[in-house]
Amino acid sequence: MIADHVLDQAIKDLFANIEFQKSPEGLYDPLRYMIAIGGKRIRPRLCLTTYSLFADELTPEILEPAAALEVFHTFTLIHDDIMDRSALRRGHPTVWKKWDEDTAILSGDVMFIDSYRRIAQAPPALLTQVLPLFSKTASEVCDGQQLDMDFEKRSSVSMAEYMQMIGLKTGVLIACAAQMGALIGGADEWSQNCLYEYGYYLGLAFQVADDYLDAYGDEKVFGKPIGGDILNAKKSWLTVRAMELGADGLEEALTAPAETPEEKAAKIARVKAIYDSVGVPEEARKAIGDLSTRAIFKGTDARLGGEGIQVLKDFAHSLIGRTV
Ligand code: IPE
Ligand code: IPE
Ligand code: MG
Ligand code: MG
Ligand code: MG
Repeated sequence: MIADHVLDQAIKDLFANIEFQKSPEGLYDPLRYMIAIGGKRIRPRLCLTTYSLFADELTPEILEPAAALEVFHTFTLIHDDIMDRSALRRGHPTVWKKWDEDTAILSGDVMFIDSYRRIAQAPPALLTQVLPLFSKTASEVCDGQQLDMDFEKRSSVSMAEYMQMIGLKTGVLIACAAQMGALIGGADEWSQNCLYEYGYYLGLAFQVADDYLDAYGDEKVFGKPIGGDILNAKKSWLTVRAMELGADGLEEALTAPAETPEEKAAKIARVKAIYDSVGVPEEARKAIGDLSTRAIFKGTDARLGGEGIQVLKDFAHSLIGRTV
């Protein structure tokens, strides 16, 4: 086991000192920018946390793969912000807004490649397991992002379809982070799989929380514009559940055009009033808590002992504590 403050400091150092190629600056500056503006770093943190359940020493063979998870995640954000037309990320302008779309596409591409360079620093004997896990995860994230966009155009989406979509776009990477740490730490296959499941359900809870905060959060804390999902007619957890409950006028409100800032604000308020009328925000908070509890059950199967289970509980709480 490695103490929490040691892991916190390792994460800080890892990203304060991370290096990308110097030139062409137009290609690599956006990478440095995205890492410098922060983010919660939950994926590398989870990877180091599960690693520390099985190992005592931090070496580049775990630190570089942990960095790879954050670099890959950040690449998906750069492209996601083009796809979602989002202007703000981590409290700062998004890459396509600060530079332009072409830059965001190519800087994202090179960031994806950089993540492979880092994941390949895992212990050589484990690469035949590490690389397929990472590649499967990376392509599943793309599958999820495509479903997310497909759903924008559909008038209705079931809760099962929504859960599958967020499992792919968000769940699998957090699951991969949890398994990767355990794998490199020397855990057996059973424990690795249990921790994968733990990460998967934690990822579902995390995405439902993100959907909730997109409508009900505080922009200063959230770091992204509130109401973006509503303006994009996203099939968020809130939308899907409100539809299941037969909320009146939801589809009309979600598809109403909104151009000016005033129209946009009115549309967001109108959709939120519909969510409120059927009690969706309270239900969302309950769903987040239930998914997180399920994650902990899955993690408990990993045969970790009391101290290890407490570590998993604490991590889950730190992740979704602000919404439940
Ligand atoms: C944002 O992820 C995308 C989702 C999966 C919801 P994070 O909320 O982890 O973003 P950062 O890295 O902290 O900015
Ligand atoms: C993001 O989902 C998932 C990925 C980036 C793969 P969102 O579109 O909800 O993420 P945010 O809200 O922009 O961070
Ligand atoms: Mg998106
Ligand atoms: Mg987005
Ligand atoms: Mg979101």
